[in-house]
Amino acid sequence: MEAKLKALYGVRHAFGCSSGTAAVHIALGALAIEPGREVITSAITDMGSLTGVLYQLLIPRFADIEAFVEMGRRHGIPVIEDCAQAHHTMWKGRLVGTFAAVLTDRNDIEERIRLFIDTCCFRDGRKRNPYFLAPNYQMTEMQGAVANA
Ligand SMILES: Cc1ncc(COP(=O)(O)O)c(C=O)c1O
Repeated sequence: MEAKLKALYGVRHAFGCSSGTAAVHIALGALAIEPGREVITSAITDMGSLTGVLYQLLIPRFADIEAFVEMGRRHGIPVIEDCAQAHHTMWKGRLVGTFAAVLTDRNDIEERIRLFIDTCCFRDGRKRNPYFLAPNYQMTEMQGAVANA
């Protein structure tokens, strides 16, 4: 499924996870944003957009998102697209979103995404060292099978 998503969206990295709520939380956790910083989000959304913000001790602020996406891109502020419910949707000629997955082109946070999904546990033979708090947001086999079908 992850290989299919990479090809479909043309991104370097794709990670399945357990839910849309988890996907937003993982993206925030992988960016390792300091507690107390502000996250600008839409007022019209699902609670899943906010849960990760609050768990990471960040402060949600509500605003018109389109203006902030542009500003974020110009000033190097990370932009997380919460595309739950928008699988395979086009916006301004671009494909957005997927379900329960985190997509990125950034090599610098790829490992932290992987660790945030999986209890900060190395699976490549390195000694266990859970050096930050990370939940278990792995996609189940059943979810993966359905997504792949
Ligand atoms: C925009 C948005 N973000 C996050 C979520 C949460 O997704 P999940 O229910 O898979 O945790 C939803 C669910 O409806 C959503 O619409």
